[in-house]
Amino acid sequence: MRVLVTGGAGYIGSVVAAQLVAAGHDVVVLDDLSTGHADAVPPGATFVKGTLRDCAAEVLADGVEAVLHFAAKSLVGESVADPAKYWSNNLGGTVALLEAMREIRIRTIVFSSTAAVYGEPEGPTVQETDPTRPTSPYGASKLAVDTTLTEFSRLYGFGAISLRYFNVAGAHAVSNGWLGERHNPETHLIPNVLAAATEGRPVRIFGADYPTPDGTCIRDYIHVTDLADAHLRALDACRTGQHRIFNLGNGAGFSVREVIEVCRSVTGKEIEVETGPRRAGDPAVLVASSAKIQSELGWRAERDLRAMAADAWSFTQARSSR
Ligand code: UFG
Repeated sequence: MRVLVTGGAGYIGSVVAAQLVAAGHDVVVLDDLSTGHADAVPPGATFVKGTLRDCAAEVLADGVEAVLHFAAKSLVGESVADPAKYWSNNLGGTVALLEAMREIRIRTIVFSSTAAVYGEPEGPTVQETDPTRPTSPYGASKLAVDTTLTEFSRLYGFGAISLRYFNVAGAHAVSNGWLGERHNPETHLIPNVLAAATEGRPVRIFGADYPTPDGTCIRDYIHVTDLADAHLRALDACRTGQHRIFNLGNGAGFSVREVIEVCRSVTGKEIEVETGPRRAGDPAVLVASSAKIQSELGWRAERDLRAMAADAWSFTQARSSR
């Protein structure tokens, strides 16, 4: 099938594009390279540089049958400082994409949603039926897209699936090396720990006074290769007139200190820590219930935290040896 991957030069989009190519799909990547990297577009995919507003209609008209939509701004802190950028890119850009799809009758879409739509969780594990109360413009803009997809499915016959990511980590091996996280600024824990290991400096823990067993935040990490596998299953499972939403997590949480310990073991490096104040907006515990995606799509995470740290470390070393 010919598929469009928006944001396919980014961390997650590039890994999904690589898996789609490996599965025999004809993949077109559309990315404006505002945060992505052209060299992350996997071998075998066609790359078009451009925005959703300017280029989606033309790319879609060239035989595309389905869309996997990753292109978005995704920094919680930046979204608070510059909300208009988030509403314009994440909602405005997506509506332009959906309008172009509607125009030429492409109705299958898998969307990158986020745990940030739930805000501060009520119970220990977050279920898809939990209330959505985003605490940032980032989360609110993603939730608005989910709402739009529900309406487009009901009223225009789209077949949509939203995957709500929790903490994605690790790297994916491809024929010409590794695809991994290259954010600037980097805010995510594992790449920051591995950068500290590489540079021989301490990593900062954002808050050690949370109501958790070791005082640091607990998160649900999944390997980016497992995440990509869920997208391929979702693509097959889209049904006309339905919008389904799935959490994408392990159902198991690890604290910041536990993650650092695994990184020490994988890298063989000491990795000192310094404890700083809490980061604004971080909930103490964020763990997904993965029961729905297991039962409806038959997906479960196959790779553990050690594999995530080890693959991210291979990616980090491959980059620093360039
Ligand atoms: N952390 C540190 N030091 C660092 C980086 C992170 O202690 O250098 C801590 C954070 O405070 C947090 C945990 O490590 O407790 C995980 O932080 P990440 O930034 O890796 O991930 P988040 O849980 O903040 O972010 C994830 C997704 C976002 C989504 C958010 C919803 O990556 O896209 O969950 O809460 F918006």
